[in-house]
Amino acid sequence: MTRLIIDTDPGVDDAFAIALAAREPGIDLLAVTTVAGNIGLDLTTRNALGVLALCDRPDVPVAAGAHRPFSRPVRGDTAHGVDGLGGAAAVLPEPSAQPDPRGAVQLMVDVLTASDEPVTIVAIGPLTNVALLLAAYPSVRQKIERLVIMGGGIAGGNITTAAEFNIWVDPEAARRVLVEEDVPTTLVPLDVTMRCSVGDDWLNRLARSGPVGSALAAITPHYRAWYAEFFGRDDFVMHDALAVAEVIQPGLLRTTPLRLEVDCSDGPSSGATLADRRGGVHQDPGRLVDVALDADPDTIRSFILERLT
Ligand code: RIB
Ligand code: CA
Repeated sequence: MTRLIIDTDPGVDDAFAIALAAREPGIDLLAVTTVAGNIGLDLTTRNALGVLALCDRPDVPVAAGAHRPFSRPVRGDTAHGVDGLGGAAAVLPEPSAQPDPRGAVQLMVDVLTASDEPVTIVAIGPLTNVALLLAAYPSVRQKIERLVIMGGGIAGGNITTAAEFNIWVDPEAARRVLVEEDVPTTLVPLDVTMRCSVGDDWLNRLARSGPVGSALAAITPHYRAWYAEFFGRDDFVMHDALAVAEVIQPGLLRTTPLRLEVDCSDGPSSGATLADRRGGVHQDPGRLVDVALDADPDTIRSFILERLT
């Protein structure tokens, strides 16, 4: 049984990731914490509660965290629609639970402290909450099994040429976590997620699988249209679900240990994740991060669909 905390900005693909974890017998989902990203904090928090209600998991505490990045103004985009779930948040049940009044960082501290075994943290939004946790409560690091982070793009970005969205929103937080910390970390970047896209057939099989699959499929049309408009693709990517899939089956993604840097400038490459791949003695200082650069797309697609249905 893997104990898990998810930090998230739901978000269409976040919803798939949360559902994957909430319905997985091998995962003990201890908490969901929310951060502003795909949409504002009120809506990411409401959406997280709604997805857990859809999965009949009102037992999982949800707490809201950072409503904006450390030092930068709020930056966002429209991929996930006006409510964060493609304008279709109404397909989710009205949540019965209320957000935990402790807030994201205190909830994470309490869960980590109370657990008699290390806990995995999956971070699938901007890293503001995770950076705050590690900066303010360094003693909890020994209770973290590993961080599994969806973010970054070694070969390039999505929200800009250089930067992936989660890193771009709060580069300072990302640099703290990916460069200045030494908690065991697996990074799941665009380099692997963009290769594991899904399309009509996959989505139709999900929609026919039952009420959870039908609701998840119902929140995708706007996100799909965004992929068609911005990327000219008729498929789309459930980035965040790959991070949870890796927790369910470690090794599903093939990783390479790399030293990273995050561009915290305000220039055109702001938010870029740089990996030192020179090898030998010339590598930059800093700790190694296990970067998932490879996976088998059909295996990933089948794995996620089977778990969700
Ligand atoms: O770049 C993809 C990431 O940004 C995903 O986590 C998606 O939900 C958005 O937050
Ligand atoms: Ca996300």
